[in-house]
Amino acid sequence: MNLRPVGIIGTGMYVPEKVLTNADLEKMVETSDDWIVSRTGIRERHIAAPEQATSDLAYEASVRALESAGLKPEELDLIIVATITPDMAFPSTACILQEKLGAKKAAAFDLSAACSGFVYSLATATNFIGSGMYGNALVIGADTLSRITDYTDRNTCVLFGDGAGAVVLGPVPEGRGFKSFDLGAEGSGGPLLNLEGGGSRLPASEETVKGGKHFIYMNGREVFKFAVRVMASATDEVLRKAGLSKEDIDLFVPHQANIRIIQSAMQRLNLPEEKCVINVDKYANTSAASIPLALVEAAEAGRIQEGDTVLLVGFGGGLTWGAATLVW
Ligand code: UT7
Repeated sequence: MNLRPVGIIGTGMYVPEKVLTNADLEKMVETSDDWIVSRTGIRERHIAAPEQATSDLAYEASVRALESAGLKPEELDLIIVATITPDMAFPSTACILQEKLGAKKAAAFDLSAACSGFVYSLATATNFIGSGMYGNALVIGADTLSRITDYTDRNTCVLFGDGAGAVVLGPVPEGRGFKSFDLGAEGSGGPLLNLEGGGSRLPASEETVKGGKHFIYMNGREVFKFAVRVMASATDEVLRKAGLSKEDIDLFVPHQANIRIIQSAMQRLNLPEEKCVINVDKYANTSAASIPLALVEAAEAGRIQEGDTVLLVGFGGGLTWGAATLVW
């Protein structure tokens, strides 16, 4: 039970400069712009430069979020980085970022929940602040999926991009901030979307490299079915927990994996397009960065007014899902 309301007091985002278009991919694998657009809604994605790692993307987004919150790095209490592409196995990307920012007093850790990671991290930070343990937190969703994508596999390489979105959380006036969260996992679906190599089960070896075990594996059709199901159920549940109805939603911010998954959720909610953030066409699926990139872009474009009710919902590897409602 939280003692005080917690909300978003600063936002920032960053995508790398390099753009990889569907036309570029046509030259790399047997695919077409028409197939990619009609099956996914994706037109282009941003790709990190060779010298950029996840902490570098997270840093750029964080600096902007701190500036927008009017907070100095040394005032930060907590840093959580949601990612499945950390700079290295350890130390955590959050610790690397803490040093880069100069956030000397902040506790720092990574949170692994794939594309649901940002919402999981928001829930975690909200409870830390709501309970009074910390005064503020920097929450970042950052992924460099290009580093774990097999650019000879047309089933996956058209789907992913790189980026980072960051928010600063802090206490907000009564009536504002996060109202409810719904987090969940279906571990039985883990093998449908994973990266097997390089962990303690299958340490890196010549065989794991040759076998492509350091790339994302995905059973697209099964993940699609899971996504459509949990987008609907998590949305219902998070609204119920907040005592809200579908009509109360001013802005719907779904995970940007596939336009068809988003459209199925919008139909079910009976939401007009102007109430839904869609930027999958520009950034593709950026995993943990996807929801914050959509949220921050919408906020910076002036699409969210004070007092608006915003619903975030995502799904991903684990399998996992996460949804949140907040009053802006
Ligand atoms: O963040 C969470 C993770 N992931 C997701 O949310 C992804 C969920 N799944 C999806 O978005 C969709 O399942 C995909 C976009 C991955 C695939 O779309 P689909 O409509 O489910 O296509 P499919 O897998 O049923 O494949 C249809 C055909 C196949 O050919 P055959 O077997 O029917 O001859 C594929 O080989 O399309 C083929 N195909 C391609 N063709 C051209 C697969 N990828 C491509 C491609 N270009 N890039």
